[in-house]
Amino acid sequence: AALRRTTTEPSRLMSRSCYSSGSHPERKVVILGAAGGIGQPLSLLMKLNPLVSSLSLYDIANTPGVAADVSHINSRAQVAGYAGEEQLGQALEGSDIVIIPAGVPRKPGMTRDDLFNINAGIVKSLCIAIAKYCPNALVNMISNPVNSTVPIAAEVFKKAGTYDEKKLFGVTTLDVVRAKTFYAGKAKLPVAEVNVPVVGGHAGVTILPLFSQATPKSNSLGDEDIRALTKRTQDGGTEVVEAKAGKGSATLSMAYAGAVFADACLKGLNGVPDIVECSYVQSTITELPFFASKVRLGKNGVEEVLGLGPLSDFEKEGLKSLKPELKSSIEKGVKFANQS
Ligand code: NAI
Repeated sequence: AALRRTTTEPSRLMSRSCYSSGSHPERKVVILGAAGGIGQPLSLLMKLNPLVSSLSLYDIANTPGVAADVSHINSRAQVAGYAGEEQLGQALEGSDIVIIPAGVPRKPGMTRDDLFNINAGIVKSLCIAIAKYCPNALVNMISNPVNSTVPIAAEVFKKAGTYDEKKLFGVTTLDVVRAKTFYAGKAKLPVAEVNVPVVGGHAGVTILPLFSQATPKSNSLGDEDIRALTKRTQDGGTEVVEAKAGKGSATLSMAYAGAVFADACLKGLNGVPDIVECSYVQSTITELPFFASKVRLGKNGVEEVLGLGPLSDFEKEGLKSLKPELKSSIEKGVKFANQS
């Protein structure tokens, strides 16, 4: 019995059905930027996910080593590594989900928008390849600035005639992960039971955690606590960037968050009902064309973009003040994608 316990314990991502692959459909997941700070632990976590049958690891360099290493783990997914642009098509072909953590991370003093010049070009070229080789895949965009890289992807796909707004996601799960952790800590609640929706976008003030809708409800938190929790969630990335002091931004917590979101997408594709996660998607719930909110996932990707629900006065104020920045980040992405 002791043995059985150790084999089923490691994490919820690695379920009991790990070795009985027969019950789950074949699913190919590709990670673009797989040899990076996020890419490597994300490759590990996706290799542990029993819903993945094929794991394709792509980067401009160093993927053979990462792929060989991860491939020795005795879980279901068959692993293949691809390096260099000439192998990108092969890496992407037949994919169900493409996860994109390719690009440069922040250094102290930088905003996510400071990454725009480098990452916008990387995302654009990767999306041109996605449109060509796996136009029906769900795209999980991690590369920053997410507020702009998602609109860039949408424009690239529109130009290629492959755009399906149900299949493009900006990954904002790390904001949710942070909001849950910070709220549970402050309210002294069991973190595994805590839920906090986070809406808006994925940069500074555009990150709007809705603590008024957090569950379980806490009676111990006052307005000042909520203000402080909101600020800490918005600055969570910067907290890590400063602690790493020039060695990059969040990678381990981001890999976890990326794995949680990809797992939700896989479950949706497989027809598991009531899979809801926050994500930055094409949206009509505000006047902005892209917005993060709760989204119900299904067999075609986004099944329903859920509304904001009732907001506190503080959250209404936050919503009003995030819109100009989010709007300009969206416009910047659209403009970039349509140049040249
Ligand atoms: P990193 O520099 O450690 O890794 C990036 C990887 O991308 C490198 O291995 C690099 O070779 C690869 N790469 C560069 N150009 C490429 C191309 N054209 N095709 C394929 N791969 C390419 O950076 P890290 O820390 O992994 O961060 C990656 C991105 O994720 C950054 O843009 C960062 O800002 C973003 N990020 C997003 C978060 C979110 O919540 N959405 C949280 C944390 C980071």
